[in-house]
Amino acid sequence: MKLLGNLFSKKTQTNPPVQEGVPANPQNLADKQTTQVKQSQVSDQLLANKQVNQPDNQAVTPDTQLPGNQAANQSLKSQTLINPNQPNQQSQVNPQAQPGMIQELKKVANPTVTSDEKSVQKALREFEKGVSTVRDLIAPAALEINPDHIKLGSQFVRTVFIHTYPRYVNTNWLSPLISLDYSMDISMFIYPVKSEVMLKTLKKKVGQIESSVSINQEKGKARDPQLEAAYQNVERLRDSLQRGEEHFFRFGIYFTVYAKSLKQLNKKIDQISTTIGGLLIEVKPAIMQMEQGFNSSLPFGDDQLKISSNMNTSPLSTTFPFVSADLTSNDGILYGINRHNNSLIIFDRFSLENANSVIFAKSGAGKSYAVKLEILRHMMLGTDVIVIDPEHEYKYLSDAVGGTFTDISLNSETRINPFDLPKVKTAQEQQEAVRSNIITLQGLLQLMLGDFSPQESALIETALIETYAKKDIVLEKPWPAEIEFPTMQDLFEIIMTLEGGKDLGERLRKYTEGTYSGILNRRTNVNMKTKLMVFSIRDLEESLRPIAMYNALNYIWNEVRSNMKKRILVVDEAWLMMQYPDSARFLYGLAKRARKYYLGLTTVTQDVADFMRSEHGQAIISNSSMQLLLKQSPAVMDELVNTFHLTDGEKYLLLESDKGEGIFFAGLKHVAIKVVASYTEDKIITTNPEEILERQKQAAK
Ligand SMILES: Nc1ncnc2c1ncn2[C@@H]1O[C@H](COP(=O)(O)OP(=O)(O)O)[C@@H](O)[C@H]1O
Ligand SMILES: [Mg+2]
Repeated sequence: MKLLGNLFSKKTQTNPPVQEGVPANPQNLADKQTTQVKQSQVSDQLLANKQVNQPDNQAVTPDTQLPGNQAANQSLKSQTLINPNQPNQQSQVNPQAQPGMIQELKKVANPTVTSDEKSVQKALREFEKGVSTVRDLIAPAALEINPDHIKLGSQFVRTVFIHTYPRYVNTNWLSPLISLDYSMDISMFIYPVKSEVMLKTLKKKVGQIESSVSINQEKGKARDPQLEAAYQNVERLRDSLQRGEEHFFRFGIYFTVYAKSLKQLNKKIDQISTTIGGLLIEVKPAIMQMEQGFNSSLPFGDDQLKISSNMNTSPLSTTFPFVSADLTSNDGILYGINRHNNSLIIFDRFSLENANSVIFAKSGAGKSYAVKLEILRHMMLGTDVIVIDPEHEYKYLSDAVGGTFTDISLNSETRINPFDLPKVKTAQEQQEAVRSNIITLQGLLQLMLGDFSPQESALIETALIETYAKKDIVLEKPWPAEIEFPTMQDLFEIIMTLEGGKDLGERLRKYTEGTYSGILNRRTNVNMKTKLMVFSIRDLEESLRPIAMYNALNYIWNEVRSNMKKRILVVDEAWLMMQYPDSARFLYGLAKRARKYYLGLTTVTQDVADFMRSEHGQAIISNSSMQLLLKQSPAVMDELVNTFHLTDGEKYLLLESDKGEGIFFAGLKHVAIKVVASYTEDKIITTNPEEILERQKQAAK
């Protein structure tokens, strides 16, 4: 705040409140009051050198424009930069003088030449008047200044200022105004006042109050609480100013409101004054000074209204407006629109403690839609994305961005060998990789074969170690140069040779021979080469899905560890994984270790209650810094309220949400969100059957 104050004060020192474009003579004032239309005089700052209606513009006509003009124009620009406060002189230019312009310019560049300099500058300024700029395009056609409003093109504009504050103001009192759904410019001017000056004034004030008190006493009057309060206040302020705990400022705040009609404008202004009137803060329109008010609200830091109140640091700090629920940052992607105040929710999940996110909502609430939107937008920032897609609904997205869509099913040719190891180099990493893959394989085998007895568990471990050893992969030695990973078949054979392994081997047989052998008993032939990789498991039998999901995730995890990159891994319909403790534990393991490998895990699920009840589910939630809750069913509401510490308001918001509406959590902040897509994005990511049919029809044509 202090810094801001200095900034503003500097600005006003260097910018005297003299307006160049509007001469401050009585004639002009009279003009304003008689509501005369002043074409293109928004202010010099807006329209600068171009004065559309001035006859002098004719001085340089198009037919006198010569090839050198472009260069001349360029040079003039640098000239005006050095000399921004040159008065706008108006003079005629002799067109005959144009051919020598370049030479003249050279002279201008040379500071020793002075005699002809002025005339050249004049000529160039005249020239520039005829050049259209962006400012001409964006400026309104006309500006009509009335005593109590400005008509700016088709908009009605009025500036109001705050003129009284109560004794106490609450922190963030400005936020109801900021959150109003209006077009409004708010400008604040903070001028530091030297403490010494203030201390002198306050000393005088204390003297006055003291003498009033003693006069009252002499007269035998009853004590005056108001005087005593004032005395205490002033003394306290003097103390803190003296100690440097507080500083003193003059503070001006102006609101410039835009509306489509005068009636609407009045209504808006009324609403503003009642909103903060409730806090005993009073606003008044800047009658007869609408133009100054408007100019003061433009982003020039130029206070032309100069209406300010005295404030010391603490009350001034309460005016800081950006405490409202806002999640806008400079980097990241657009997640949606903040439903509190229509601001944009722009956010980079990789800036959080971890980049994991969870998305919870009932079926059809727009979870996959939101995820696909995030994928599209993150890919534009160069993030790689991997998706586990149990519904076969990321195909179109994948095709649209040139991704690889891999179908894992009994009939497809795609294979992932669960015995694969990550490509790591050091001996220690290799040991670690083998050890962790043995644990992962135990989890996978449990999913495939059902729970193990302790004996079986020990037997499986021995068998796995031996299976790797068969291919010369052992814990103590570095891996062989030509590495070949074992397959399920190797494990099967080894189990069958182990004592007491017959029974387990028979259970495993269905994955090495027969119909199921395809998905787990082959060498990997997938290649993670595109920026978007989708693994679909829809066409698998229900019971095989968690197994395939587990296997695919393990493969992805190996890949993530082999080759570190900024990545997002999306597990849609994650409840499939959460059904079984082994796969749930695996998913939790990913969430916990993802950050180390620059990976953000997105867990999407509709089965909220089950997810939250499971121990690993809770752990995944607490390991996800970003959370998105969309429409929920009443049955799970109480659990959600407890887990996410929702307020009553947020609870009803979630129950009544529309598609794509909900609450977005990032770290400790939460805001109400509406997920919105552009037309093109919507076409790529929708799962609306009607639109998909339409798309297919289009494609068939
Ligand atoms: N923010 C949104 N804007 C427009 N349509 C949406 C939005 N979110 C979802 N939809 C539509 O709603 C339907 C269901 O969305 P989907 O993401 O598949 O739900 P979920 O994955 O939660 O079951 C789809 O037809 C989708 O196009
Ligand atoms: Mg979905």
